[in-house]
Amino acid sequence: MSAITGDRKRVTTHRLSEMKLRGEKISMLTAYDYSMARIVDQSGIDVILVGDSASNVMAGNETTLPITLDQMIYHGSSVVKAVNTALVVVDLPFGSYQGNSKEALSSAIRIMKETHADAVKLEGGSEVLESVNRILSAGIPVMGHLGLTPQSIHKFGTYSVRAKEEAEAKKLVEDAKLLEDAGCFAIVLEKVPASLAEKVAKELSIPIIGIGAGSGVDGQVLVLHDMLGINQEFSPRFLRRYHNLFAEIKGAVENYVQDVKSVDFPNKKESY
Ligand code: KIV
Repeated sequence: MSAITGDRKRVTTHRLSEMKLRGEKISMLTAYDYSMARIVDQSGIDVILVGDSASNVMAGNETTLPITLDQMIYHGSSVVKAVNTALVVVDLPFGSYQGNSKEALSSAIRIMKETHADAVKLEGGSEVLESVNRILSAGIPVMGHLGLTPQSIHKFGTYSVRAKEEAEAKKLVEDAKLLEDAGCFAIVLEKVPASLAEKVAKELSIPIIGIGAGSGVDGQVLVLHDMLGINQEFSPRFLRRYHNLFAEIKGAVENYVQDVKSVDFPNKKESY
């Protein structure tokens, strides 16, 4: 694949580390389908994450656990077809990499072969290190994910802020270093105290992308449907809404329903 697309340079993992070096913040958003990914890519985003949050956002599940590898591949390949510039990362879903590093590698290989994405992301530190190492040994770039890891929601019990206590904070720093030493190109830190996230970003040389992790990290990620205000039910403190698309779409649909009922639509010009 060409490193240059039109007059905008394709984002690579190498480019992300250069951005960290020169202090340029990294922007990342989720996308799960072709149409949204096209808009996001053309808006100058650096990284598109095909997150397993598709399980909640696209399929209406309560957690990320039910989404399957086949479903992630469907979302990933739809997104990749739309993208010219951003780096595309696809989440390894729950059950496709934990506990068996050979299965982890075959899941990651399926994602790379069948979606043509640039990298995979997985959750956890020391517990998944063998899987991380095996995937990396096949030349597949890996993004880590620490802090609040939604695939472990049944272990945590709540979606509250992680690593507030010293022991958990210490483990998080150790896990981040393990992932960096293994060769991960970046780590997502979700819902941890800003001071801890900043410390990790300062101590590590790979980019740290935060979500609910304050401004002292190397970049930010949000779920697209949350920041666009399509999903109204989810309002954590870290979420900044840039639009109220729920209301806009609802208004447009209401107008359409009214026009159909009143036979205002279609008019003569809209007919053959
Ligand atoms: O699945 C997802 O959308 C994520 C982000 C919240 C980082 O992992």
